[in-house]
Amino acid sequence: MEFSYHNPTAIEFGEGKISTISDLIGKDKKVLFVYGFGSIKKNGAYDQVVKALKNHEFIEFSGVESNPTIETMNKALKIVKKENIDFILAVGGGSVIDGCKYLAAAAKYDGDAWDFLDGKAEVKDALPLGVVLTLAATGSESNNLTVVSKKEIDEKRLYFSDYSYPQFAVMDPTFMSTLSDTQLANGLVDAFVHISEQYLTKLNTALVNDGYAETLYRGLTKLAKNWDDRRTTLWQENLMLIANQALNFQIGAGLVQDWSTHLIGHELTAFYGIDHARSLAVVQPYLLRLMMADKGEKIAQMGKNVFGIENDNEAVIAKIESIYQSVGVTTKLSDLDIDDKVIENVTSALKSHGYTAMGENANITLDIVTQILKDSLK
Ligand code: NZQ
Ligand code: ZN
Repeated sequence: MEFSYHNPTAIEFGEGKISTISDLIGKDKKVLFVYGFGSIKKNGAYDQVVKALKNHEFIEFSGVESNPTIETMNKALKIVKKENIDFILAVGGGSVIDGCKYLAAAAKYDGDAWDFLDGKAEVKDALPLGVVLTLAATGSESNNLTVVSKKEIDEKRLYFSDYSYPQFAVMDPTFMSTLSDTQLANGLVDAFVHISEQYLTKLNTALVNDGYAETLYRGLTKLAKNWDDRRTTLWQENLMLIANQALNFQIGAGLVQDWSTHLIGHELTAFYGIDHARSLAVVQPYLLRLMMADKGEKIAQMGKNVFGIENDNEAVIAKIESIYQSVGVTTKLSDLDIDDKVIENVTSALKSHGYTAMGENANITLDIVTQILKDSLK
């Protein structure tokens, strides 16, 4: 066992915790308050932020879209520079948060900040960022990952930087009351795949990581089973906490990981605008079946410890599919709005991004990706 792990994001969890931002943001800071298309005006988050910032100077920037683009965030960047903003407050889901992580880094960079996404430059500094989370799914609120797109070239890319950790994340589950069933289901599936990308690789001896990952899996399985209760605070607050824990990278610390389902899914979203979680659900089951020789022992462990299924790996994968389907998320690419160029588009984009040998054993090649997509299209 060997790893470095440092997560500096302070978590304020629970109803009314938004009031803490009055003290968490220095009174001398000039704040850019960033959000999406107005969902925060329906669930009370907007009013509560304005109240909490009554002694701060702040400016608003809205219109950050799902799968945030640098085209939009560069408009915010102009405001940051012109107005001498020195704190960014992101209020929303993973998209607003990721857009703001990019913005915070871009504000301290002289060149074109897309350089961080295509690997030409590393983030060396960033403005401080705070988060109020309104949608449970990505874990972006307390991790160091940023995923943004460049519309001009239909690319969705990611980078890791310790400068991307928010200083704080307010997680008030009552803001989830306005989420649609689709958004709740997407969050559940995204979190499930986040655990899998860190867990479904090779056997390891780290009892803490696997034990905690299995607890999170069991929690999501229970939430899917209790889908009828999805409108209760109890259900929603558990999804909020599980999704957060699933991707603060603690369960993966020191372990080999495999993010290939995400890398393939990101290309599907870049071309066809498919919701992030839905892009994962049409990839993961087929990838697991094809990579059974590599992942079979962990699939068996998951079956035994999470679902009580012994010696039947196909039944484990079928169980994962049934969880996604039970919350209304399809596992077939053929059900989504794609075209007959999908395989060519995804494989050529992966190739141009250098993802030709993915997975814990670097053997998920473009031929395997082609087969995954063919199986999902059947
Ligand atoms: O724009 P508004 O009006 O705010 O509406 C948003 C948006 O339309 C709405 N919404 C948010 N909170 C709501 C709400 N609607 C009603 N009630 C609320 N309380 O939800 C819509 C989607 O929001 P979005 O932020 O796009 O969803 P999500 O949190 O799933 O984020 C997805 C993005 O995060 C990236 C994805 O690729 C995608 O771009 N990811 C980021 C990761 C990270 N940084 O760690 C990891 C993930 O694997 C993922 O790749
Ligand atoms: Zn994800």
